[in-house]
Amino acid sequence: MKERIRLKKSKGLGGEIRVPGDKSISHRAAILGSIAEGTTRIKGFADGDDCSRTLKAFRQMGVRIERKRGESAAVEIYGRGLHSLREPERIIDVGNSGTTIRLLTGLLSAQPFFSVLSGDSSVRNRPMKRVVEPLRNMGARIQGREEGNKAPLAIQGSSLMGISYGSPIPSAQVKSAILLAGLYAQGSTEVREPFPSRDHTERMLGLLGARIEAGKGSAKIVQREGLRAQEIDIPGDLSSAAFFLVAGLISKDSEITINEVGVNPTRKGIIEILERMGGNLRLDNLQENSGEPRADITVRSSRLKGVMIDGEFVVRSIDELPILCGAAAVAEGETIIQGAGELRVKETDRLRAMAVELRKFGVEVEEYPEGMRIVGRERLKGSTCLSYGDHRVAMALAVLGLVAEGETVVEDTGCIKSSFPGFLEVLGSISNVKCQSSKFK
Ligand code: S3P
Repeated sequence: MKERIRLKKSKGLGGEIRVPGDKSISHRAAILGSIAEGTTRIKGFADGDDCSRTLKAFRQMGVRIERKRGESAAVEIYGRGLHSLREPERIIDVGNSGTTIRLLTGLLSAQPFFSVLSGDSSVRNRPMKRVVEPLRNMGARIQGREEGNKAPLAIQGSSLMGISYGSPIPSAQVKSAILLAGLYAQGSTEVREPFPSRDHTERMLGLLGARIEAGKGSAKIVQREGLRAQEIDIPGDLSSAAFFLVAGLISKDSEITINEVGVNPTRKGIIEILERMGGNLRLDNLQENSGEPRADITVRSSRLKGVMIDGEFVVRSIDELPILCGAAAVAEGETIIQGAGELRVKETDRLRAMAVELRKFGVEVEEYPEGMRIVGRERLKGSTCLSYGDHRVAMALAVLGLVAEGETVVEDTGCIKSSFPGFLEVLGSISNVKCQSSKFK
């Protein structure tokens, strides 16, 4: 069963909304809570399919996990300590979640049992060598298709040695996989990166009592003692809020507030880029909970202008680049994205997907191997476009449907459930048009 969304041009978006808990932080809370001593109580756990896959993986390994959906999205994890996970009898199916497979590859490499990780066709085609290679250098025994580059991955746990690894790519998944393996390794384990990637693993390890030294672009785990369970309060996901930030900025006569959104500096690139584009954004009630900063963010309609997005800004807004392409499509002048080759190996090739789909709205786009040039235009024409099974592409195109003339149809939108099952309801709550979703064979 496929799904599609139909939308019409809308102005005067308004309201105060919340978005699901941060997906990256939720994965880490599930993983570290499962190997901590004691009960981890989590508030604001992400409600998408990706994080459910991580919870399910730990249930398969004998961890008792209770979940309450609704307002507080609470999860209770009865941690088994570092050394008591059980061998999963079946393959661990991570669905569409790249974070689950890469982080678990690190953790499972150090467990005294055999396990197999696999996922949907997107995950099975994403590169795993980036984690498998450094883990093998630590002594991990991992087999997979293409010499371990593609899932399914079969892991025979073994004892590991700490390493000091200079990663050629800035990637929090690579860094986290190695740090998780490092929790069990002999000696210390260090990861260095060309630009600092998101640091949620380091922050949460610190919160749970691990000895971790984090610098700008490096992280080192220096002990093998156990983790202590904590209460963890997860902020809203800035990557989900991003769609509403851009919707509020590019629709006329609009003002939207998104409450309690994570504003970790390693993730905040989108806010800084939108400000550079001339966006009117305000952050209120800045506070820190469970080691992560959060704020209420208000946006008002603004005339955006094109900018250059490169270097550390690419890393700090990596998941927001599809919707930033959307913002660029209606900005005055051109936007250039450089050094973003990583987008080609996300849930889909996001550079290709956005280039092809923006052209359908009448936008001039030039695609480069590692980026693109987008020439903004004042009016977009409504179109029938495709998500390529990628949740962030689907939501970015839906937002463009709110400003394009006439009707826009986004095909294949079932994927949105991997990060934001309630997306359409929230979109409907701030707009005066009906956004319809339909299922078909
Ligand atoms: C994530 C890291 C990023 C990001 C992904 C989530 C994480 O991937 O794109 O959505 O939670 O660690 P990379 O590590 O591949 O850059």
